[in-house]
Amino acid sequence: MFADELKRLDPDLDIRLWPHFGKADEIEFVLTWNHPLGEFNKFKKLKCIASLGAGIDHLLRDPDLPEAVPITRVIQSSMAQFMSEYVILGVLHYCRQFAMYKDDQAVKRWQPRQPILARDIGIGIMGLGQLGADAACKLVQLDFNVAGWSRTPKTIGGVESYAGDEALDDFLSRSDILICLLPLTPDTRGILNAGIFEKLPAGAYLINVARGAHLVEKDLLAALDAGHLSGACLDVFQTEPLPEDHPFWNHPKIFITPHISSITDPMAVMPQILENYRRMKSGKPLRHVVDINRGY
Ligand code: NAP
Ligand code: GLV
Repeated sequence: MFADELKRLDPDLDIRLWPHFGKADEIEFVLTWNHPLGEFNKFKKLKCIASLGAGIDHLLRDPDLPEAVPITRVIQSSMAQFMSEYVILGVLHYCRQFAMYKDDQAVKRWQPRQPILARDIGIGIMGLGQLGADAACKLVQLDFNVAGWSRTPKTIGGVESYAGDEALDDFLSRSDILICLLPLTPDTRGILNAGIFEKLPAGAYLINVARGAHLVEKDLLAALDAGHLSGACLDVFQTEPLPEDHPFWNHPKIFITPHISSITDPMAVMPQILENYRRMKSGKPLRHVVDINRGY
């Protein structure tokens, strides 16, 4: 699919599909998602590793990643649009109690419930980057009371900015709905844990659309079963696909989707990949290069 689109954009491109890449020394540019570890070391002339997604944690888990080869990621308005749609849907599904009405429908129960006004619902977004900032702006448009937490302070209209570890507790205490849109790094792995949940208001709701490894799954189950959290909408998991015997599947307070909140659209994204390939060929600086030391 991605190769077809690249070929459509530039029929002269020499594209090799792994594992049939021919002579390893001829590979200069790799386009990848969840590659087999250690594979890139074969490519001695590699000049760019391009992630097919917004995240690059799948690359950094490789202990044999060739040093000094820049890594690029996807930054595209379609990804932000898809993600914001999902987040808004998750928020509204919860706020307008659709799961309860579905249960009512199953037993033919007519049970109206009073909704809470959006402005009275505190939404906290962890990560105010390309995706988090877009979701924050769109939730502000819907009149939600939105805050974001990031490493550095942000100025986004209508969004309260909290930055750094020292601001985390205050951010959590006003977040009735907590949305995770952080990159997965050593600092953020396991960040959605019991210590964080207990600082959220009683009855808070969790939406995790970032990475499964952000969440300590047993801590979520404990917080839901204790009633401190009222539910969770999860798009990402420690193990994907989610194993058949995983307790999340049948949990009445958990809504599951299979890592689809924002899927890379080949048509939208291949032009920027091709542009970077051409930049690489002509020795120009690449776009969307990640800071490997920072991890995102
Ligand atoms: P991004 O533009 O790099 O933004 C990352 C944000 O997280 C930044 O605001 C950054 O703060 C903040 N951050 C990083 N480390 C932090 C820390 N230790 N403490 C507080 N804030 C921290 O990333 P993005 O493009 O928005 O994407 C976010 C993630 O979404 C991706 O890495 C990927 O894992 C996930 N994703 C999931 C899907 C899906 O389908 N489920 C699709 C696409 C992406 P600063 O701004 O201060 O640097
Ligand atoms: C998907 O999960 C991505 O990082 O683009």
